[in-house]
Amino acid sequence: MSTSTDHLERARTVSERAYAPYSRYHVGACLLSTSGVVYDGVNVENASYGGTICAERMALGAAVTAEGPSMRLRQVTVYTTTSPPAAPCGLCLQVISEFCATDTRVVCGNHKGEVRIFSFGSLLPQAFHGHEITPAQD
Ligand code: THU
Repeated sequence: MSTSTDHLERARTVSERAYAPYSRYHVGACLLSTSGVVYDGVNVENASYGGTICAERMALGAAVTAEGPSMRLRQVTVYTTTSPPAAPCGLCLQVISEFCATDTRVVCGNHKGEVRIFSFGSLLPQAFHGHEITPAQD
């Protein structure tokens, strides 16, 4: 039986492949889909800083590319060298929100062995959904 922290060691190894010459902050993300497959991602930075893509969104792209638009997440695991372990940024949470449930687990770990586990809904309780868009009245 696998435990929720099983993917942290994998995420640590993945983080070694980050392209982070500007921040030198290496992040590894492992996303477990409901079909039981794990997808990896690292942060990929750019000299034009706004072009940087976080590890979580890189992994999400791999997951959707492999499984298609119906892909759903059971768990998100993120490894950083921040203490306490960093949770995914707001932009990643918003993007991930369309592929998970409020009880999807988010496991955050670091180089010290510290672990924090959240439900997705506790990190982003008010995700923005397209159905909230209403056209402006003239
Ligand atoms: N980063 C991530 O990969 N995930 C996050 O959730 C927050 C930030 C990356 C982006 C950038 O390469 C570096 O960390 C510093 O912000």
